[in-house]
Amino acid sequence: MSIEHGVKTIGILGAGQMGGGIAQVAAASGISVKVFDAFPGAIDRCKGVHKKSMGKFVEKGKMTQADMDAAIGRISFTDRLDGLTGCDWIVEAVVEDAKVKKELFAKLAAMYPDHNVVLATNTSSISITDIATACGASASRVVGMHFFNPVPLMQLVEVIPAMQTSPAVVERTVALATAMGKTPLKANDRAGFISNRVLMPMINEAFYAWMEGVAEPQAIDGIMKLGCNFPMGPLTLADFIGLDTCVNIMNVLADGLNSERYRACPLLKQLVTAGRMGVKSGRGVYEYPGK
Ligand SMILES: NC(=O)c1ccc[n+]([C@@H]2O[C@H](COP(=O)([O-])OP(=O)(O)OC[C@H]3O[C@@H](n4cnc5c(N)ncnc54)[C@H](O)[C@@H]3O)[C@@H](O)[C@H]2O)c1
Repeated sequence: MSIEHGVKTIGILGAGQMGGGIAQVAAASGISVKVFDAFPGAIDRCKGVHKKSMGKFVEKGKMTQADMDAAIGRISFTDRLDGLTGCDWIVEAVVEDAKVKKELFAKLAAMYPDHNVVLATNTSSISITDIATACGASASRVVGMHFFNPVPLMQLVEVIPAMQTSPAVVERTVALATAMGKTPLKANDRAGFISNRVLMPMINEAFYAWMEGVAEPQAIDGIMKLGCNFPMGPLTLADFIGLDTCVNIMNVLADGLNSERYRACPLLKQLVTAGRMGVKSGRGVYEYPGK
């Protein structure tokens, strides 16, 4: 017998690239969504992204205008953490910082004590067991639910149980991801899981190659696209992920896997220091005028 996810209303923490995308996909699959973000401007930006993204689906005939309007109507926003009352599932998608996430999860567990409310994190690399531990007696309802960017287009959800996660929560996560039109695949809780453990060192190596003058960014990306059949080069992909997020993930890999070989490339760190975060800030490796 297949397990039901039992979700009518989903709460999302973070109205950024990922939180906004998860909100859009959940709403398009008929689930009501409440999005929380603590920073001014993030909510308006998210609303704009929803209109633009779903508008493109309508233009291409992949969604009707009526379905788009209904999906937008299912999404509400709040700048208060206690504004997620009534949600039966929460997905966290704020900055990739273990301290911030653990503090947020401890608050969530206390504010939403119903044990049927699953507390999922979209972290790219931080230990789910660590986050679950911050929730004390609620650890069994914490799970990793790792969507990919851009969420409306990417098929995979990596499902990562913490050491404490109950099997029923894992099965409900698989059911919810499937209901959102995604393909869930399970990975164990080690730094970076599968996706970023394999992908991120490769991206980091591309920055080293650029820093050492082995080739210019266009050539590095072109070689990996044309020679290795990548849909986009590693430096372009880093711009889409966000260079700050890339540095944070490398730090988690280095600490979590106890190895200096995962340290972020100095050039990658320097770009972040200079405010070049990638597409979201208008400039990273490349420039994105108008973003
Ligand atoms: N970008 C990617 O390709 C990608 C892919 C998979 C997973 N992730 C993960 O998703 C998470 C979010 O990444 P993103 O790319 O959406 O980042 P982002 O910078 O686009 O968005 C983060 C959002 O969180 C908000 N925020 C930050 N701290 C907050 C707090 N304490 N309380 C409430 N809101 C807060 C910010 O205002 C921002 O709107 C990270 O954990 C990241 O590792 C990212």
